[in-house]
Amino acid sequence: NWNMDSIIEESVTAIREKVGGDRVILGLSGGVDSSVVAALCARAIGKQLTCVFVNHGLLRKNEPEEVEEVFTRQFDVDFVHVHAEERYAELLAGVTDPEQKRKIIGSQFWNEFFSVAQDLDGVKFLAQGTIYPDIIESGARKTGGKASTIKSHHNLIPFPDGVHFDLIEPLDRFFKDEVRALGTALGLPDHIVHRQPFPGPGLAIRIIGAVDPEKLEILKNADAIVREELDAYNARLFEETGERNGEHSVWQYFAVLPDVKSVGVMGDERTYARPVILRAVESSDAMTADWAKLPYDVLARISGRIVAEVPGVNRVAYDITSKPPATIEWE
Ligand code: XMP
Repeated sequence: NWNMDSIIEESVTAIREKVGGDRVILGLSGGVDSSVVAALCARAIGKQLTCVFVNHGLLRKNEPEEVEEVFTRQFDVDFVHVHAEERYAELLAGVTDPEQKRKIIGSQFWNEFFSVAQDLDGVKFLAQGTIYPDIIESGARKTGGKASTIKSHHNLIPFPDGVHFDLIEPLDRFFKDEVRALGTALGLPDHIVHRQPFPGPGLAIRIIGAVDPEKLEILKNADAIVREELDAYNARLFEETGERNGEHSVWQYFAVLPDVKSVGVMGDERTYARPVILRAVESSDAMTADWAKLPYDVLARISGRIVAEVPGVNRVAYDITSKPPATIEWE
């Protein structure tokens, strides 16, 4: 696509001119926006880009490995995988309030990110996956091209005193679908380019009540089955209709782990185990959403697989509430 090629060429030239021989740092979450920035900067400045991937242990099953694979094997950048799983687990232990969870996760992200930045020599630039709608939404702008805040996990976190980066925001002219097209043209895999929205605080806000390793393991396994089945369902619809987010395709889908147990039976044994809640919605912008009218055979497969394959789960419920009055997430 000639048009896409020239947009990439233009962006690459602009990044090179701005950066010169300096170092750029980027918080890579594995989401679409930060991944496309990473791919674009990789082409422009290669190893002058340090991608900081803070692994909070709250990503979905196999996700950290997939991100690392793409940005170590496919793109030639400096990739730092920060294993912060245990620090996050400690900070979150016993915390039940959703906003408190968000706060802890957001501010610890900054601690982790900044500690890597400090260890690197002379980082001059911070690259960010700000896209055009972000600018409109925040209605705000930076002063003189200096960043004093960072777009991270939906929160604007102030830098410590005396710390400044010049900003690089190569996506700030683009809408989401253009960013995806750019990602594809740069060679990013479909699982990143067409990734469904995933909250910064990750699975912590899909475990109702306190997060612990056992619940995390259950949720990751149940969620992996939900994604596998509904990815396949969406792929079938895409094949039939040619539309990626068509009338009946599911926009966001995941598992939620509530803080209750219920009675069940397995063989001749009574069980007392956890339910998993399936959430699947159709939406275009997350402001409103309809619960997805999934075919019964798809629901049956998901339910059957979860109770058969995930130890500790004896029941699956489907959330049939739209937004409003519910939200998409449970926390
Ligand atoms: P709700 O639950 O408010 O979610 O209907 C709307 C969309 O936003 C996502 N979401 C978040 N994204 N940090 C994020 O980066 C958050 O704390 C957060 N909370 C909700 C949610 O997944 C949905 O797509």
